Amino acid sequence: MIDRYGPWAVVAGGSEGVGAAFAHRLADAGLNLVLIARRPGPLAETADAVRAKGMQVRTLELDLVSPDALARVRAVTDGLEVGLLVFNAGANSYRHEFVTGDLDGFQGVIDLNITAQLALTRHFGAPMKERGRGGILLVGSLAGFMGQARISVYAAVKAFGRIFAEGLWLEMREHGVDVLELVLGVTRTPAMERAGLDMDIPGLLVADPDDVAREGLDHLADGPVWVAGGNYETARQRAGFPRAELVADAHALMRRMLPKN
Ligand SMILES: NC(=O)c1ccc[n+]([C@@H]2O[C@H](COP(=O)([O-])OP(=O)(O)OC[C@H]3O[C@@H](n4cnc5c(N)ncnc54)[C@H](OP(=O)(O)O)[C@@H]3O)[C@@H](O)[C@H]2O)c1
Repeated sequence: MIDRYGPWAVVAGGSEGVGAAFAHRLADAGLNLVLIARRPGPLAETADAVRAKGMQVRTLELDLVSPDALARVRAVTDGLEVGLLVFNAGANSYRHEFVTGDLDGFQGVIDLNITAQLALTRHFGAPMKERGRGGILLVGSLAGFMGQARISVYAAVKAFGRIFAEGLWLEMREHGVDVLELVLGVTRTPAMERAGLDMDIPGLLVADPDDVAREGLDHLADGPVWVAGGNYETARQRAGFPRAELVADAHALMRRMLPKN
């Protein structure tokens, strides 16, 4: 892992949940880390735990949607050889019916999942191409396989990420850079707990952050898309036709899972 993706990895959204799990697994593999997140508490906690494994860690308290995000990332990473970018931050931050919703709220979802993701991917991807090695792991969602009410923009940006990853994979594979869209289903992260999602619906497959992070890193070279947590068949079905039937059926489950407000 270190020869192919080291010596430094950047985890955007690396303080808790799947992001913290990535940090631990990468440190176990001998990579130094730059961890980015907004809240200082969980960021420091994960950084300390990873330092205790003997790796170097830099932290950056940053909202990735802020206009100076790339400049601030550069201030912490310029001069480091970053061989792996994990763009994990991206859970839905605004949930509403579209036409009566707040456009700024939807814009925040787009800014994080599209604008910030593209900026960091381009910034770290170019030197990886020059070096002829590296990895880019973008965290996606089963939501990106079909439209969903009240999270229509979130589902759409996750579809964007997946299609973008496929094109990037084509461009980078001949330069020795692995690109993977890691598609997650429902995963028991602190963000999901805070959002009040009902993850205890009978029959619902709920993954553990450590398991999906490990699965993603194990399959970094199996791009462009890897569906984690046993959700491959669900993803395959959701990508099919006829759309009206599939979208309406999935909507019935989502209505039970999402909070009513
Ligand atoms: N959990 C699920 O059920 C599920 C299902 C499908 C896909 N996913 C995908 O998995 C990824 C991780 O999701 P998650 O549930 O762990 O929630 P998340 O809100 O994306 O949080 C993950 C990490 O990103 C950081 N973060 C979030 N927004 C940020 C921002 N604007 N700027 C900088 N850092 C930010 C968080 O710390 P701070 O909050 O302190 O910034 C945390 O360290 C996302 O891409 C999500 O779409 C999750």
